[in-house]
Amino acid sequence: MGRLDGKVAWVTGAGSGIGEAAAQALAGAGARVVLSGRRRAPLEAVAARIGVAARVAPGDMAVAGDVGAIVAGIEREFGRLDILVANAGLNILARGWDQLTPEGAASVIGANLNSAFYCASAVLPMMRRQKDGVLIHTASLAGRFISLLSGPAYTAAKHGVVAMSHTINMQECVHGIRSSVINPGEVATPILDQRPVPVSAEERARMVQPADVADLILYIACLPPHVVLNEVLITPTWNRSYVASLARAGR
Ligand SMILES: NC(=O)c1ccc[n+]([C@@H]2O[C@H](COP(=O)([O-])OP(=O)(O)OC[C@H]3O[C@@H](n4cnc5c(N)ncnc54)[C@H](OP(=O)(O)O)[C@@H]3O)[C@@H](O)[C@H]2O)c1
Repeated sequence: MGRLDGKVAWVTGAGSGIGEAAAQALAGAGARVVLSGRRRAPLEAVAARIGVAARVAPGDMAVAGDVGAIVAGIEREFGRLDILVANAGLNILARGWDQLTPEGAASVIGANLNSAFYCASAVLPMMRRQKDGVLIHTASLAGRFISLLSGPAYTAAKHGVVAMSHTINMQECVHGIRSSVINPGEVATPILDQRPVPVSAEERARMVQPADVADLILYIACLPPHVVLNEVLITPTWNRSYVASLARAGR
């Protein structure tokens, strides 16, 4: 018997990287999983690998109407939602202040921060009725520490995601609802293709892998209802920012 038998999970950004691995892990534990992202084809490919437990629900999480329609569909089909993995996100190449445009900033803030608000707002009424529900947000180390690597829009958006996750616990704890925010350092996923300085295959191999974050998401999803893991940092042991500061320190 799976630990998540009978549970329904919705994973955003499920067509690749962390979201794909999380969907596979949750389905492997018995959950039925709904997969969202903007492009249908990668979602269909992930669903085919998972099998009958998976449904595809494409949409842009930065568009409140898309989010509302998907959640209404989940309610119609399953009548419940136990786990939200609000993981959709992106970054852009032209991210520094010398290149950032209003459109670029809006796309980053929309996909990372607005999306998290739209998803949480849409699922909370169902979870309140159930008196149960787990929200798991993928923020970033850039949501806890300020640096230039990820750019100002992404850094600000992810700080917002961390803050909003904590406020969910502050207000919704009385309804049995729990919100966790995961702050990964570098994870070897396609998002790294948007880095201004290209990341080699050798460097990617040393990073946290999508399955490592998926293990953590599964752990959080399986916690007993009286426990919330509020915030977690997960980084590569070979942390490139530490290694660079060791070099600067002449070590
Ligand atoms: N990899 C890292 O080093 C790292 C570190 C810290 C945090 N994160 C965060 O981890 C999360 C997952 O990213 P990843 O690393 O797994 O990269 P990824 O493979 O690029 O996955 C991101 C997914 O989000 C989807 N997405 C982007 N914008 C969307 C939108 N507006 N609506 C719906 N789906 C959208 C993308 O699919 P479509 O393009 O089809 O929409 C894609 O499948 C992101 O929030 C990212 O910021 C990653």
